[in-house]
Amino acid sequence: MSDNNNNNEKFHEYDGIIEHDNPLPMWWLWTFFLTIIFSFIYFIHYELAGGQTQSEELAAAMAEIEQAQSKAHTSSPMETEESLKAAFGNDGILALGESQYTSKCASCHGAQLQGLIGPNLADKFWVHGKGTRMDIVKVIRDGVAEKGMPPWGPVMKKDEIYAVSAFILAKRGTQAPDAKEPQGEAVEDYLTAQ
Ligand code: HEC
Repeated sequence: MSDNNNNNEKFHEYDGIIEHDNPLPMWWLWTFFLTIIFSFIYFIHYELAGGQTQSEELAAAMAEIEQAQSKAHTSSPMETEESLKAAFGNDGILALGESQYTSKCASCHGAQLQGLIGPNLADKFWVHGKGTRMDIVKVIRDGVAEKGMPPWGPVMKKDEIYAVSAFILAKRGTQAPDAKEPQGEAVEDYLTAQ
């Protein structure tokens, strides 16, 4: 290995291989500088300024989803009496409502809605609200845990809650012979209104 070119510092020769000292291309240098600049910003953001790591971002996003889901089970600010009226209007929904009622509600409210452990659902007496669509949907969704009415929001789909509510409305005014005694307040126009 020898340095044959002491006069010219620009290149060396080693065993016949010439080493040039060419400047690096600008695009290469700039890419390199940008990675250095990026690393500073990255370091400052994540190490000094407390930027969220990916797992922290994931945890925050999951918490947001869970919050939104638990809200969806208890209340639905988009619902109005009118929107529920439209959703209940379809006759097909009653068949679903009846099957939901028979499997989930009849044990406490009676096969004819006449009342058993829970109140009669076909009369004009209401413990919770005045028997409007909104009232019925709300009590089914949120339940009355301390009185033994389970909250169905976490168990039933929205459509199933609508269907069973529509079914209750469709049965209003029907009186089974063994109807339970009235509970709550009488709502005079309930059976004719809606
Ligand atoms: C484990 C027994 C039980 C089951 C099952 C049950 N309920 Fe109830 N429900 C009750 C009781 C008890 C009440 C009365 C709560 C009170 O007094 O505050 C009630 C109240 C209600 C009310 C309000 C009545 C009023 O007068 O305000 C509605 C509507 C209702 N239930 C619908 C349903 C529907 C629909 C289902 C099925 C998806 C269902 N319930 C299943 C026990 C039950």
